[in-house]
Parts: sequence; C-alpha cells; structure tokens
Amino acid sequence: EFMHEAMGLSVLERQLKDKLHVSNIMIVPGNSDDHNWVKQEMGKACASFLKERVKSPQTIAATGGTTMAAVANMMVPFDNAASSLFVPARGGIGEKEENQANTIVAKMARKVRGDYRLLYVPDPLSETSYQNIIKEPSINDTLQLIKDSNIVLHGIGDALTMAKRRKTSEEVMEKLKDKKAISEAFGYYFDKFGDVVHKVRTIGIQLDDLSTVNQVITIAGGHSKANAIASYFKKGKSDLLITDEAAAEQILRDE
Ligand code: G3H
Repeated sequence: EFMHEAMGLSVLERQLKDKLHVSNIMIVPGNSDDHNWVKQEMGKACASFLKERVKSPQTIAATGGTTMAAVANMMVPFDNAASSLFVPARGGIGEKEENQANTIVAKMARKVRGDYRLLYVPDPLSETSYQNIIKEPSINDTLQLIKDSNIVLHGIGDALTMAKRRKTSEEVMEKLKDKKAISEAFGYYFDKFGDVVHKVRTIGIQLDDLSTVNQVITIAGGHSKANAIASYFKKGKSDLLITDEAAAEQILRDE
C-alpha cells in the first residue's frame, strides 16, 4: 500500500515537473485545505531537505503565512550548519503575529540553533517613509543580509484570499479584481500569465533579487491553490516546489 502510494506520487512529480518547468518537485499525500497535518507534512519535507542539504552556515530568508509557519514547526537542528542565519524575506505584510515572517524566522533559528535578525517596519509604506527607513544604518545592515541570502523559502497564496486576509483597502481590492490577480508571493500579486499586477511596497527582497539567490524553495499546497501555484510558476523563479497531491492533481487537470 505504502509503496503503491509512493510510486503514484513519483509519477505525479514527473508530470508536474514537465507542466510547471521546475527542476525539483516533492509531493506529499493528501489535501492541505482539508487537513492541517498535510501542511505539516509539507513543512517536514522542507525541514528534512534543508537538514540534509545545508552543509555549511547559510543565510536563509523566509516569508510569512501558515505554510511557512508549518515549516518552522518542523525544523530540526542542522548538523553542520548550526550558525545559519535566518532573516525575514520582507517587512511584515499585514499578517497575524504567528504568521509573520519575523515570528517564523525567530522560531526557525531557535529550532535549528542558529541565529536570526528581524525587520521592524510598518507596511505598506509611503514612498517617503520607505526612502528614509532604508537609510537607517541598523535596518540597512539587515537589508544587506537579506539581499545576500543563499536560500529563500516562500509560500504562494490565492490572490484574493491573501488580499482579504491582509485587510487590503477597497481600492486595491478593486484593482486586483480588475487585473484578474490569481496568485500572491512576496507581497507581489500575479495574473494567470505570471505578470505582476500589484506590489505591496515594503522593504526586503524584491522579485528581481531572486535571480542571484542560490536556492529558492516554494512551499504551497491544497486544491484551492492550484491556479495560484500555476500562475506563480509561469514566470517566477523556483528551484524546488514542495506541494501536496490535491494541488498537483488539480494543476495537471487544468488545460
Ligand atoms: O504569500 C503567500 C502566503 O503567505 C501563503 O499563506 O501559507 O497561509 O496560505 P498561507
């Protein structure tokens, strides 16, 4: 039974790799929309991957969200890389405390027995505040560490679900609907072609910075995120997608 399931998933992994054009895929059984333990399993897959692959201290940036919180939950001490540094990928983007990147990286560092830096900035920021804040030496130091991250861990959300959860203004909600936003990652909103239709102005990693990051790991699953995942992968950089069976099957079903 177990072997059968494992074989089934490896076929799905191959098909999804071809469809999304991503070099590495890991699929866990189930649907994380229905069962939280499936999300925890994705978290575990990510934590095990990192434990195995991180051989020397790295700077690891993470975004927020419940999936990234599951990754933090499942982190285990790294054998050879205890002094890894965890940093939030971007300033908080209107999430609850337990789902904020700051909270998540602090937890990851505690579990791995590494170190962390936090970013305390309100968001969204006005252009003038933004320009002033990035000049603050302490913030600038952290921003430099973030830009130099070796590994970036991030989630993908359904655009309107995320916008509502972040109490986005009516004006921006209208814009997202108008421009047919499908997915959200790093505070950027994308349409079905993977083009950016809106961006939350906050400090930290910008989409262009990802091109120089060694390893971008995407963790997102659930039947409800199939379109969102497909949208991000049209143009977004990722070296590894960790997802679940329900998302994978739905993505493969779509045209
Ligand atoms: O940016 C994407 C969202 O943070 C995903 O959030 O993991 O709670 O669905 P989630």
